[in-house]
Amino acid sequence: MIKTISADQLIPGMYIHELNCPWVEHPFVRNQFKITETKDIKKIHEMGIKSLKIDTCKGLNVQENLSPLISSMKKRDTSQSSEQQPLKKQLPQTRKKAKNIKTHAENAIANIMADIKLGQQVELEQVTPIIDKMSESVLENHNALLGLSRIRNMDTYTFEHSVNIGVLMMAFSKSRNMPGAIIHEVGIGGLLHDIGKALTPPEILNKPAKLTDEELVIMRHHVVDSHLILSKTPGISQNALDVAALHHEKYDGSGYPDGKTGDEISLIGQMSAIVDVYDALTADRCYHKGQDPSVVLKRMLSWTGSHFNPTLMQEFVHCVGIYPPATLVMLSNHHLAVVTENNSNLLAPCVITFLNTKSHETIEPLLIDLSKQEKLKVISSEADVKWNIDPQKYLDII
Ligand SMILES: [Fe+2]
Repeated sequence: MIKTISADQLIPGMYIHELNCPWVEHPFVRNQFKITETKDIKKIHEMGIKSLKIDTCKGLNVQENLSPLISSMKKRDTSQSSEQQPLKKQLPQTRKKAKNIKTHAENAIANIMADIKLGQQVELEQVTPIIDKMSESVLENHNALLGLSRIRNMDTYTFEHSVNIGVLMMAFSKSRNMPGAIIHEVGIGGLLHDIGKALTPPEILNKPAKLTDEELVIMRHHVVDSHLILSKTPGISQNALDVAALHHEKYDGSGYPDGKTGDEISLIGQMSAIVDVYDALTADRCYHKGQDPSVVLKRMLSWTGSHFNPTLMQEFVHCVGIYPPATLVMLSNHHLAVVTENNSNLLAPCVITFLNTKSHETIEPLLIDLSKQEKLKVISSEADVKWNIDPQKYLDII
């Protein structure tokens, strides 16, 4: 069925029938196509298109996905059962706040990198208010920021990666019960850890293919540049400097720039090496698709002792969870769900269900705390692309 919808209702999986705009004026190869990535939706918004037509026979229908979820949320407010518990009520507000913080942080990093290209110094005042907000958010509910760390846009990879490293370092430090001052310092370090990339030639930084040996040397120099730039920054802490200087060192000495081993790498440095690899492998890049967090964690666990400190790696898994927020998972009743929050039992997170994969029908979505379920379990994590689903969409509307 052809249906006119608002551009705000677009989600991946919908089939565009008509963009209400001539072919020559839009950036897509065809007039009719299926939306597979959120960046396509962004392009449509950027073109100023307010409404368009979708074909619900060839793709997802807006009402099947959004309205039942909202109505079910209202229903769940008044009819809780011990089997299916709604999530904490402050979560939607917390997520909204977290999203604003993330956008501000990305803009700040973009501005700082532009300043560095012009030969200017970093001023900590540009990031401290953001880190204050991030600290608040991490202390309130670190799941909200962690879930957002999965939003990806290849064009702004460096900025997003920087913010994610800040978020992950703060969440990791908090889960290790480190003092607030250190959480603050590692957040600054994470945000600014790749600042030296401002001096990396863009054709190398954004090369959509494997780097040559010579290019790799230039690329790796960003660590030295980041450290140098930050060491000239008034008020910078040693912990922040360690994130910048040590995030590519490996536990067995095979990292760079100095090939340090074991405890030659400070605790903060060892933590930053873990979060940097985790974020890089889960990210979509111009040359490869990001892997599912649970797959990445499994791979990283197999490298412990060589690349990472084994104890810290275990602690990191406890921090982000085996199924981190925003992961798509299959439940034992064949319902597809998105993880919204972790529990102390890492195998039983809180999830939101929305699709019966046996009947291929959307179901009335429910927020379920799997730690309170006896029979219902997660049986696997699922690739977003396999189902053409953007998990963020479901998190955004709770
Ligand atoms: Fe780096």
